[in-house]
Amino acid sequence: MCYAIPGKVKRIEDKFLIVDYFGEERKAHNELSQIKVGDYIYAQGGFAIRRIPHNEAQEILSTWREIFFDLQKVDLALSRLNQERKDIDSRVLSILDKVNYEIKPQKEELLYLLSITQEKELDFILKSANFLRQKYHKNACCVHGIIEISNTCSRNCAYCGISTHNTGLRRYRMSKDEIFCAAQEAIEKHGFKALVLQGAQDLNYNFKDLANVIQCIKNELGALVIISFGEIGPHALERLYKAGARGLLLRFETSNPQIYEKLHPGYTLKDRIQEIKQAYELGYLLATGGLIGLPGQSYQDILNDLYLAKELNAEMFSFGPFLPHPATPLENLKPVIEEEMLKVLALARFVDPQNAKILVTTAFETLSPNACREGLLSGANSVMLNATPFKYRELYSIYPDRAHQSEEVGEQIDKTITLLKQLGRAPTDLGVRA
Ligand code: 5AD
Repeated sequence: MCYAIPGKVKRIEDKFLIVDYFGEERKAHNELSQIKVGDYIYAQGGFAIRRIPHNEAQEILSTWREIFFDLQKVDLALSRLNQERKDIDSRVLSILDKVNYEIKPQKEELLYLLSITQEKELDFILKSANFLRQKYHKNACCVHGIIEISNTCSRNCAYCGISTHNTGLRRYRMSKDEIFCAAQEAIEKHGFKALVLQGAQDLNYNFKDLANVIQCIKNELGALVIISFGEIGPHALERLYKAGARGLLLRFETSNPQIYEKLHPGYTLKDRIQEIKQAYELGYLLATGGLIGLPGQSYQDILNDLYLAKELNAEMFSFGPFLPHPATPLENLKPVIEEEMLKVLALARFVDPQNAKILVTTAFETLSPNACREGLLSGANSVMLNATPFKYRELYSIYPDRAHQSEEVGEQIDKTITLLKQLGRAPTDLGVRA
């Protein structure tokens, strides 16, 4: 199974390739050498990542051709808005009418939606988000892999199970070779085209080694590399960009500075946002977002979080529930319920209907066994599978009992593909429209 459809290069316009996917044109930054019109490529996140030999591409395309349009039909049928309007709160109806017909809603209106708890209204909100997801993104669903390379952390985040609060945890840091081997397996054996390399905020990262391994993954294996090592500063960001990293996953965690500073003593939201902005200036695709259900967090804060992600030009919205970890100061706090999280995903879709890739996080899957299905039916169009070597999985314990902790990557892929097929989604990332 592959996680991108081969695209045929139709034109080359300066630094961009115009690529055809079954009659639809998309644009991809060209960083590959010697690409010609007529070649086949894989693209991810708007970057051409690999050239594919003609015969291989044609074989893959012939399989895809058979299922691609069938999947689109299933998705279309599941995302129709044929909702019964009787007995639904009239304000909810009028706001959703606006949203569904591309009229920008007011912040107060979205705040009202966020406060809804009645079942019928909630259902209409989630279905509207699914309708908009289909309208702008069709049935594409990003399936990325994540490799957790280090749990050695210098930060004191009050919610996090690998922070300095957890003094009993054995710490690890994968070597350059271990990272490369895990990436090679994820890409060559499992077919991932985009990989997140994530680690705690480790003061002793060897950026020379990391740059080197990123360069090898990009050039030898041909994948989009997304880095996620906390706040590493502008120099390291630039160095890793030059090495070939093209995405940054860094959550701002909360847009409320008071909450931020309470949960991260000695650190500021301003610095966090500054780092995200610097990465954007360097050219990184951004995945950002925050935690839902933090102490003192209001609906207004959550809405501000969603607007902040958009303002920061997030390519991917990453919002997940806070889950209490027993070795942290927040151990006794209760997490939000599933419906609250679904509402947040739906609202993210309303805030950025056309551009956002919206992730169903592993934390949400840990909170609720139906999260992936329900999230994908509530505006989300992205999932991440855990490709961390088994021996380290348990040690990357940001919260307890993580979903898929003990599943082989192959098993996670099988489950995901089965679900995506049921929902009519294609596990692919067609990138930006030409
Ligand atoms: N619950 C949910 N998510 C958490 N993270 C850290 N600790 C927790 C927790 N207890 C998230 C943070 C961080 C990401 C890597 O993991 O948002 O950015």
